[in-house]
Amino acid sequence: MIHTLAISHYRSLLNLVIPLGQLNLITGPNGCGKSNLYRALRLLAETAQGGVVNALAHEGGLNSTFWAGPENITHQMKTGAHTVEGLVRQKAQRLRLGFASDEFSYAISLGLPKPSSSAFSNDPEIKRESIFFGDNYRPASSLIERENAIVKNREDRQWGMLSTQMPLYESIFSQISDPVKTPEVVTLREFIRGWRFYDHFRTDTDAPARQSHVGTRTPILSHDGHDLAAALRTIVEIGDDHALKAAIEDAFPGAKLEVFFDNTGRFSLGFFQYGLLRPLSAKELSDGTLRYLLWIAALLTPRPPPLMVLNEPETSLHPDLLPALGRLIVHASKQTQVWVVSHAPRLIEALRQSPACHEIVLEKELGQTQMVGQTLLDTPLWRWPDQAK
Ligand SMILES: Nc1ncnc2c1ncn2[C@@H]1O[C@H](COP(=O)(O)OP(=O)(O)O)[C@@H](O)[C@H]1O
Ligand SMILES: [Mg+2]
Repeated sequence: MIHTLAISHYRSLLNLVIPLGQLNLITGPNGCGKSNLYRALRLLAETAQGGVVNALAHEGGLNSTFWAGPENITHQMKTGAHTVEGLVRQKAQRLRLGFASDEFSYAISLGLPKPSSSAFSNDPEIKRESIFFGDNYRPASSLIERENAIVKNREDRQWGMLSTQMPLYESIFSQISDPVKTPEVVTLREFIRGWRFYDHFRTDTDAPARQSHVGTRTPILSHDGHDLAAALRTIVEIGDDHALKAAIEDAFPGAKLEVFFDNTGRFSLGFFQYGLLRPLSAKELSDGTLRYLLWIAALLTPRPPPLMVLNEPETSLHPDLLPALGRLIVHASKQTQVWVVSHAPRLIEALRQSPACHEIVLEKELGQTQMVGQTLLDTPLWRWPDQAK
């Protein structure tokens, strides 16, 4: 489980260090930074897939994703006694992302390269990466250290040299993979690669989830949901069939789901609703019903990930379905750490029913995203490796 997430200088997240629980609910008014927080988590996940530099470029480049406010916000700026203005920058700008899990912690720091004539002189560079133990980074708790092109690992009490020529646009996760010499890199990479993000399933008439597909056993629903029928059938055969039936009964009393398959291996859905004489196919289902079935398939996965991230799962669901969706998410959170971004009151209400629900309410002050009511006491003692002395 991840118990601390830390972000610095990413969009409206100037410095945010938040403690996480088993079921995390992120709420707050429009524009407070919920999606920025979601995106920051995705960027961290991209690191382990070898794509963080590319993902940042697609967000408009590092310059546009950097915190656009002043380096320091003074007390006078907050009270309005001084206007908000940037002073001469004292330190190089760095976008930093990190987390601490029960096993290892990881932090990455990105910055712009020195000016050059290269066509890629706007590509972000990885300046620093570290794998260590705990929140409070100390050199003594560090296992892997990367500074620019140099990567070292701890060997008993000394540092061994792993590489002196690490490309600045590649993470240690894509370049270092020796399970004997650097098991922590391999373990952490597999942990991060397991994180699953679901964000706005398509349900329009041409949506992949409405088509029939050749199916194989599908313990993990794809991001576009094209394998919905096969994923539901997989739950029936090797997953929690009882929970599947309960989830359907909870949302659509009296309804029944059937997965049809022919001898060419194509899978399709049949949804029997109370009052109808024949089952409806995926093509005929309402957006809301189809989306709810997609959430069932995602959340009742027979192979739960270490972390499941749901961005505004309420989108285009009828408010009457939200309490049932909330109960489904709570059920899933018993097997996997869950992160839900939402601003739907009925979903929020349902999630709060769970004792495991850890609510994070965000607000924006002087352009900076903060956690409402956070005090030093409930802020983890996070320290960035490149700021530790
Ligand atoms: N580079 C940046 N620096 C500072 N703030 C930014 C930057 N980019 C976007 N923002 C702020 O982030 C806010 C959007 O946050 P977002 O996460 O989309 O909100 P929501 O909570 O509605 O999902 C905008 O109001 C904008 O002011
Ligand atoms: Mg948003």
